Amino acid sequence: MYPMTQEKMRSVVRTKYGSPNILSIQEIDRPRPKDNELLIQVHASTVNRTDCGALWGAPFIFRFFVGFPRPRHLATGSDFAGEVVEVGMNVTRFKKGDRVFGFNDHGLGSHAQYMTIVESPNVAVIPASVSYVQAAASLEGAHYAYNFISKVRVEKGSKVIVNGGTGGIGSAAIQMLNYLGAEVDAVCATEYLEKVGKLGAVRVFDYTREDFTKQNSGLYDFVFDAVGKSSFGACKLLLKPDGVYISSELGPNFENPFLALLTPVMGRQRVVFPVPVDIPRTIQHMQMLLERRQFNPLIDREYPLDKIAEAFEYVASGHKIGNVVINNLG
Ligand SMILES: NC(=O)c1ccc[n+]([C@@H]2O[C@H](COP(=O)([O-])OP(=O)(O)OC[C@H]3O[C@@H](n4cnc5c(N)ncnc54)[C@H](OP(=O)(O)O)[C@@H]3O)[C@@H](O)[C@H]2O)c1
Repeated sequence: MYPMTQEKMRSVVRTKYGSPNILSIQEIDRPRPKDNELLIQVHASTVNRTDCGALWGAPFIFRFFVGFPRPRHLATGSDFAGEVVEVGMNVTRFKKGDRVFGFNDHGLGSHAQYMTIVESPNVAVIPASVSYVQAAASLEGAHYAYNFISKVRVEKGSKVIVNGGTGGIGSAAIQMLNYLGAEVDAVCATEYLEKVGKLGAVRVFDYTREDFTKQNSGLYDFVFDAVGKSSFGACKLLLKPDGVYISSELGPNFENPFLALLTPVMGRQRVVFPVPVDIPRTIQHMQMLLERRQFNPLIDREYPLDKIAEAFEYVASGHKIGNVVINNLG
């Protein structure tokens, strides 16, 4: 039986699209799980580039996925790691006390102390040795990185260069490629050369001093531009004759989706556009990598929930490395 008065929680609240100054922290009713839902006490979540899109409602088309004309969720937040504190009567895979993590690129309202989520493959149990902070930081960037990798055939010995090796996507991609036995080079700024080398990159290029596209030609099976700052044209010479270029962005002239259609019929080198799909597949993969200690998320800063606007400002600057975590455990 529920108590007569509903319990309260602290949550980020916003009712329209806009910049971080529209965010407030309010005490609101704690949600109640429906029959097919879990009530989660959120211990950690991240502020990531997907959340920025959902906060600003940009690009505009994204609003049709995260809520039109207003955001669907009162709170921002697309990933979480926490504890199941209550389950609906039809829930079968989870029980009270389970440590779980999950992600939904259309938003979950996880920037709060509690959230509900439908029992689905978008939620999974956190491996025992992994902390809530680590689990939360192994989702959003990892999903887009795995999405790059799943679109092509990376094999043991494949040669790959990851542009933006410090990013949420790039730092995850380097580690996942290493797991597959690829030989990975990466590109980042001067201060992070050592850090990116430790993630598993063999050669690390400093983009502030050299242009990685001007190396010897025909070196790579794959160019993964995880920060979307290059173009297929500039990277063509780097690729082997049947090499593949993938970018997280549309390209300087919005050309990547068109090149993805044209290049497979025009020549052997091709562009693949990584439309992100299949979050459950990523979560399963991350569960496995974390369990085997083959993935250690790069964590930049941690903020308390109260400092959410500051966290968004930092992430939107485009200069974060790895993941920015909202730590509700303090
Ligand atoms: N296609 C999709 O579905 C999708 C989904 C999520 C994100 N994205 C996009 O993917 C991109 C990366 O996302 P993310 O979450 O990984 O971003 P992020 O965590 O903000 O990382 C970007 C990283 O790139 C570094 N960087 C900036 N300029 C660079 C350059 N010229 N060369 C190499 N590194 C550079 C930045 O550090 P410094 O500035 O200090 O060097 C930063 O560490 C963003 O543009 C984002 O909008 C696309």
